[in-house]
This record gives sequence, C-alpha cells and structure tokens, in this order.
Amino acid sequence: MKSYSLSENSSIPALGLGTWKSAQGEVCQAVRTALELGYRHIDCAPAYENEAEIGRALEEGLGAGLCTREELWVTSKLWNNAHGADRVGAALKATLNDLRLDYLDLYLIHWPVVFSRGVFFPRRGEDLIALSVTPIRETWAALEACRQQGLVRHIGVCNFSIKKLEELAQTAVTAPAVNQIELHPLLQQPGMLRYCRAKGIVLTAYSPLGSGDRPAGLKKPEEPSLLGHPVIGEIARKHQASPAQVLLSWGMARETVVIPKSVNPQRLKENLAAAELLLDQDDLARIGVLDQHHRLVDGSFWQAPGSPYTLANLWDEEWDRQWHEQRRGD
Ligand code: A2P
Repeated sequence: MKSYSLSENSSIPALGLGTWKSAQGEVCQAVRTALELGYRHIDCAPAYENEAEIGRALEEGLGAGLCTREELWVTSKLWNNAHGADRVGAALKATLNDLRLDYLDLYLIHWPVVFSRGVFFPRRGEDLIALSVTPIRETWAALEACRQQGLVRHIGVCNFSIKKLEELAQTAVTAPAVNQIELHPLLQQPGMLRYCRAKGIVLTAYSPLGSGDRPAGLKKPEEPSLLGHPVIGEIARKHQASPAQVLLSWGMARETVVIPKSVNPQRLKENLAAAELLLDQDDLARIGVLDQHHRLVDGSFWQAPGSPYTLANLWDEEWDRQWHEQRRGD
C-alpha cells in the first residue's frame, strides 16, 4: 500500500476506511472485514457515534493477529464541544477508551467551530461559541501536550482554510501533519493542494465517493452525481475498473489520502483494490476539468440564527483567493 511520510519513522497509508455514517450494529463487522481484507488505516471520530463498536472490532482484530498495533493506523478527531485547554485531555481519553487503544496515530481538530459545553449538536445560535472566545491556538496547544504525553503520535486539523493554517502557524510549536477536507473531482481545491504540498502538510480527502448516504438535510435538489458521472464511467470502462476505483485512484494520484466509507464486504474489497489502479495522463486531464467547486458538506449547519459562524468566515474563500493572487508569479 502506498503511504506518505509524516516524519522520519512514520507514514500514513494512502487509503483508509472511513466510518462516518457507518451505523452501530454494522460498523463492528465492517471494520473486522476491512482488517481481514488488508485495510491498515481506520478513520474515526466521536461525532460519528460509533467509536465504542469500532473499538470492539480493533480489539478482536488485533487479538486474532490480523495485524499488529504498529501496522495499524488509527485516526480520531476532537469534537466541537471539547475545544479549549481544559477539555481536550478528557475528550481524547474518552476516545482512547472507546477505541480500546493506548494511543492514536493521528488526532485532528474536527472543525474550526466551537460548541458550548454539553452541546453535542447545536440547535440555536447560542450553542455556538466564537473562535475569538475559545481560540484555536489554545486548543492546539492542548493537542501538542497530548502528543508530548505520547497519547497521540501526530496531530492535525480538518476543514481548515489556508487563512486558518497560516494563523495556526504563528503560534504552533508542532505544525499540523494533516488537513482533512472534502476533496473529489467536483471539489478539487487546487490552491489548497499546492499550499499543503509546499508546507509539507498531507491532505486527506473525505467524501471521496460523494457520500451518497449523507443525511437528507445535507443534500440539495439536483446535485451532481460523482459515482454516476459519465466521464468517470468511461474511464472506469477503459480500465475495466469501477467508478469508485477511478475516484479513489484519482485521489491517490494527487498524493492525497482517501478514506472511502463502506459497510459492504464486496465494496470494501473493491475500494482497497483501487490502490492497484493507475490512471494515465489523459484520464487525469479529463477528470481535472470536472471541477465545479461543489461542496457536498457545505458547513451551513453551523449557521443557526445568532451563530458567530458564516460560510464566509468558515471557509475563508475570499482571503485564500487573495493569498494566492498576491503570490502569483512568485
Ligand atoms: P456502502 O457503505 O453500502 O458500501 P463516501 O466514502 O464518499 O462517504 O461514500 C460512502 C457511500 O458510498 C456509501 O453510501 C457507501 O455505501 C457507498 N460506497 C462505498 N463504496 C462503494 C463502491 N465501491 N461503489 C459504490 N458505492 C460505494
């Protein structure tokens, strides 16, 4: 399996199993099957409300000798209700307890968004706290402390703009190893890709298959289909591969990590085999022009009336655009 180096002795497998939307009652078997098939990277989060079941699968899989802990890469994320210096340690310990692990390979800030204490998902604007009140730099320092204690090997972020990465760089002692963001042919984010390459930050692509099983509230009418896209279909037929394999191979060709979710044994197998599919320059060029800057997970759920978060200050797209503009020709 291809992997990307994060430090001298450590590299992250280019393909992992996503577990967002993997329901309780089926995720344990899915993770167990994935380990049997050869997956060595599992992407988790307490927000997915299934870590305890994943922990059971990891314990069983490791106990059965499917792989060693050292051969396995486990990522989890700090949920939005646990930002702030005094809350990170307890949140991480709860995740380690649920996953039945002594340490994580990677711990990410799930969103640059803060909830009030005790809120699992916000219903009113007051449930959300501004970053000026609970700054990322304080939460990050707490993640750095967890790393010092050996509870996590690497730390990183999700859903961060270039602006927020630049701000973090001003105070961080340890730079983020990873930024996990939505990436697929309809949302290619070339500026972020260039930026992260230059800074040595690995990008992980979430929703690489278009997350067709995301909640109805996250869907808009007449959204374009990724798995059903005619160009993806043509390239798949050319290589006698599936559309999902083309999407995943494209992500890996860009040196991003892909974390497709499946709970189906056949599709788990198919997705892992995407690591063997090599697209050619013509395929990459045809996919390259499909970008529509279309977000499937657009963050509008953090915008309840009275919330300090807007799509403009969440994604910072205008700031990032100007940042690139100023450096054009450098
Ligand atoms: P299932 O879990 O039943 O396999 P994403 O990773 O972008 O969030 O997409 C996950 C969705 O894609 C799920 O609905 C998942 O269904 C489906 N899926 C996963 N692998 C494949 C595949 N190889 N072909 C078609 N659909 C897939």
